[in-house]
Amino acid sequence: MSILSIRNLSKTYQSGSRKLTVLDEVNFDIQAGETLAIVGPSGSGKTTLLGLCAGLDSGSTGSVVLNGQALEKMNEDQRASVRNKDVGFIFQNFQLLPTLTALENVMVPLELKKRKDARQKAQELLEKVGLGDRFTHYPTQLSGGEQQRVSIARAFANEPKILFADEPTGNLDTETGEMIEKLIFDLNKEQGTTLVLVTHDLELAAKTQRIIHIKGGKIQEDADA
Ligand SMILES: Nc1ncnc2c1ncn2[C@@H]1O[C@H](COP(=O)(O)OP(=O)(O)OP(=O)(O)O)[C@@H](O)[C@H]1O
Ligand SMILES: [Mg+2]
Repeated sequence: MSILSIRNLSKTYQSGSRKLTVLDEVNFDIQAGETLAIVGPSGSGKTTLLGLCAGLDSGSTGSVVLNGQALEKMNEDQRASVRNKDVGFIFQNFQLLPTLTALENVMVPLELKKRKDARQKAQELLEKVGLGDRFTHYPTQLSGGEQQRVSIARAFANEPKILFADEPTGNLDTETGEMIEKLIFDLNKEQGTTLVLVTHDLELAAKTQRIIHIKGGKIQEDADA
């Protein structure tokens, strides 16, 4: 079963009098439970593509069907509800809420799902990413790698069907990076979570089943890893 189906997806921005094409007629399908890496040079459109796949933004033309739901036909509220239900997202720039502590940030998706054990579950997840002693820290009081780990714990809290991760280990030392990698791949093994990773790390990419190469907003190659 295809969990994500991308058809003729393009994204353009108007910059002054010029049209900037950031994604150009992209097509692919991802099967439920698959693991996939998107690689390509800086500025090639990877983050943009991930955001469109996850329903954070809409394309200019084309279609994104996530878990049977055509995102381009939805309004922002409907897309938000799909995201809360099905999607986990680890952002390149973390996107933690600055007025909430580490623990509260991880509790947000759990509370949106009205889980009574939100606090306990969030504590467990922070312990899993090695932040058991940082519950009450605010994002500004955390290092970059620690913020990244909070954002990973928050993405896991959703128990997503599909996890999108933009450079999930990019800011981490080797040891912490390996720990996070293991957590992400365990999620795939244990819960069948579909993984879509953007990375510059070719060793990480090689651990997925399939690699999509993107350049100038176009898919150059889509092959088994
Ligand atoms: N809101 C925007 N308005 C105009 N141009 C944008 C906007 N957002 C992104 N772009 C442009 O789209 C292109 C692709 O950006 P994107 O963030 O997807 O690249 P990327 O492949 O993730 O790069 P990196 O590896 O550096 O993270 C860039 O050239 C960027 O300048
Ligand atoms: Mg990017």
